[in-house]
Amino acid sequence: MNKIVAIDGPAGSGKGTIASVIADRCHLVNIDTGATYRCLALATLKNNIEITNQKEIIKLCSKIKIDIDAENKVYLNGEEVTEAIRSEDVTKIVSNISSIPEVRNIMVALQRKMAEGKDVIMEGRDITTVVFPNAQYKFYLDADLNERAKRRYKQNQEKGITMSFEDILDNIKKRDYNDMHKKVGALIKAEDAIYIDTTNMTIEQVVLKIIKIIEGD
Ligand code: DC
Repeated sequence: MNKIVAIDGPAGSGKGTIASVIADRCHLVNIDTGATYRCLALATLKNNIEITNQKEIIKLCSKIKIDIDAENKVYLNGEEVTEAIRSEDVTKIVSNISSIPEVRNIMVALQRKMAEGKDVIMEGRDITTVVFPNAQYKFYLDADLNERAKRRYKQNQEKGITMSFEDILDNIKKRDYNDMHKKVGALIKAEDAIYIDTTNMTIEQVVLKIIKIIEGD
């Protein structure tokens, strides 16, 4: 049976960075499921589809091709969009797009397919509850809202993405609410997931804590 390490948590909780470090050290394939929803958000913008036009978004979702390569580069219909899916415009609409149940059905199927036959570390919002509820290792990462906004601000600056701290804080607050109140695939801690509050922890401390658990047996 392939190894599945599932991680959920809100924006800025450290999931992305931590999953990528652990993937390298433990030879796991890293699957960032947020990237799949971000691709659909980008495609929606590119096709000038209104965010309220769910019918067209669902249609688009079944047509687009999303790939993530071994270096975590993201492709939408063959075009590299690794940077483009992190833009402010995409970030503003992605949570709403990911709330559409039909979109989630398509994305969950795609994410399961991406993991087929591989040892993976997969992070998102519903990995421990919907995508792989039977994963051998399940974690829920969390951190204070202010700390999460600070991290995202720093990350954006490093990537050259301009978004003010206040806008980031506001966006994270809105996404938290939306992600936690979705009809399908809401962000909740699975009963059997290990809860880690990363507010006062370094990346290395969180990484070591998780590695100890997943390589401990
Ligand atoms: O992890 P992220 O910030 O790149 O995710 C972008 C959005 O996608 C996030 O606001 C919620 C949604 N998402 C989701 O609903 N389910 C997932 N498994 C991953 C992300």
